[in-house]
Amino acid sequence: MLTRADFRKYEQLVTDWISRYYDQIEDFPVRSQVKPGEIYSQIPSALPVKGESIESIIRDLDEIIMPGMTHWQHPNFHAYFAANTSVESVFGEMLTSAISAQCMIWATSPAAAELEERMMEWMRDAMGIPSDWEGVIQDTASSASLVAIITAREVKTDFRSNFEGVPGNLRVYCSTETHSSVEKAMAISGLGRNNLVKIGVDSGQVMQVAELEQAIKTDLDNGLVPCAIVAALGTTGTLAVDSLPDIAILARKYDVWLHVDAAYAGTALFLPEYRWMIEGIELADSFVFNPHKWLFTNFDCSAYFVKNADLLIRTFEILPEYLKTPTRGTVNDYKDWGIALGRRFRALKLWFVLRSYGQAGIQRTLRNQIEWTLHLVETLKQDPVFEIVRKPFLNFFCFRLLIEGKTEDELNKINEQYLHRINDSGEAYLSHTRIGSTYVIRVVIGQTYVRKHHVNNLQSILQKFRP
Ligand SMILES: Cc1ncc(COP(=O)(O)O)c(C=O)c1O
Repeated sequence: MLTRADFRKYEQLVTDWISRYYDQIEDFPVRSQVKPGEIYSQIPSALPVKGESIESIIRDLDEIIMPGMTHWQHPNFHAYFAANTSVESVFGEMLTSAISAQCMIWATSPAAAELEERMMEWMRDAMGIPSDWEGVIQDTASSASLVAIITAREVKTDFRSNFEGVPGNLRVYCSTETHSSVEKAMAISGLGRNNLVKIGVDSGQVMQVAELEQAIKTDLDNGLVPCAIVAALGTTGTLAVDSLPDIAILARKYDVWLHVDAAYAGTALFLPEYRWMIEGIELADSFVFNPHKWLFTNFDCSAYFVKNADLLIRTFEILPEYLKTPTRGTVNDYKDWGIALGRRFRALKLWFVLRSYGQAGIQRTLRNQIEWTLHLVETLKQDPVFEIVRKPFLNFFCFRLLIEGKTEDELNKINEQYLHRINDSGEAYLSHTRIGSTYVIRVVIGQTYVRKHHVNNLQSILQKFRP
């Protein structure tokens, strides 16, 4: 067991480890190459009776754990959506864990509450979110969307569901491409997964607004109660952007809550040239994006903005005696802005990132990635075997190998095997989706320290593993 005084003795060991990790990260296979159970079987089956040394724990970290890690910060990580970090964020996180404050209410750390308030204002104003909206940090976009659906439920039932239970006729609408967290939120909120109406998408994977209106009208005719719409700005599969202006008009016409899920693509709002995505936001009710995806801030940190914080607080506040404070009502007690009582000091890492990058640094980094993505696509296009199935948007595109004379099924198989060959090599990591029945490979150039030569290298890898 260490004492606080031992911190000095061992800090170097840990920070050296981190520095070495970052120096050598490109030597690791991007995706872990272990088989199921390989790590588990190396971990003793019971808690050690006698404490062990930090040196031996760090040795096992290298020998047992690291082979089982996938390196999300590797510049050749292009799978899923990035969950990037930065040196600044790591420093902030280290300090957060050192201070280890539990920031449930203002009084339990006024600085945490007030820094969070400011950080949310900084981002709101830098992203063009209406200046009268307020924000709170949630752990994930899944939680933020759950919070939005529960708030919508309370607003629609005049705040009775919290007390009496949830009526079975509240309906929520989203496209078939919306993230699965919304369906999960339906289950958890008590609205029920069967009350999620999935609206079809057009050839661009964008929600069909006419079909949305028709679904709302049909529900009304059947005595059901439209409660909320979730619009996606940047769907998980193909980064499609629903038409917020059109959806917002319907939300107001039918008096339903409009939640905007911009978990990944929201970061692009730091670039004025992408503000068109939130045209109509003033008619929406809530908006989420994840700094822990593309804003250089390590997981977890999800930014949730609402037009009317009173509705949020009315939905979630609960006040046992031990949490009553004299400052209540004059400060932000963030426990009432979401699900958990206990809260980490997440604003600190955001403060480190936002101050160190500044608006200019954020914009430069995003624009570089967008430009390199475009360049990669232009290069791939020169070889007809690469079909660009989703043209580049932000730092994302989808492609597949197109080999003449093959059926759709054969092409799907060829592309699946091609993806596995790349990922099994450890040289790069990519993921896939299906557009209709077509198997496509997604590419995301979103790692904080990715540079142009990594993107050029990706192009060579894509060539090298093709049949
Ligand atoms: C559009 C979208 N919404 C929500 C989520 C869920 O994010 P989180 O992991 O923060 O819950 C994702 C995850 O990739 C996503 O792509």
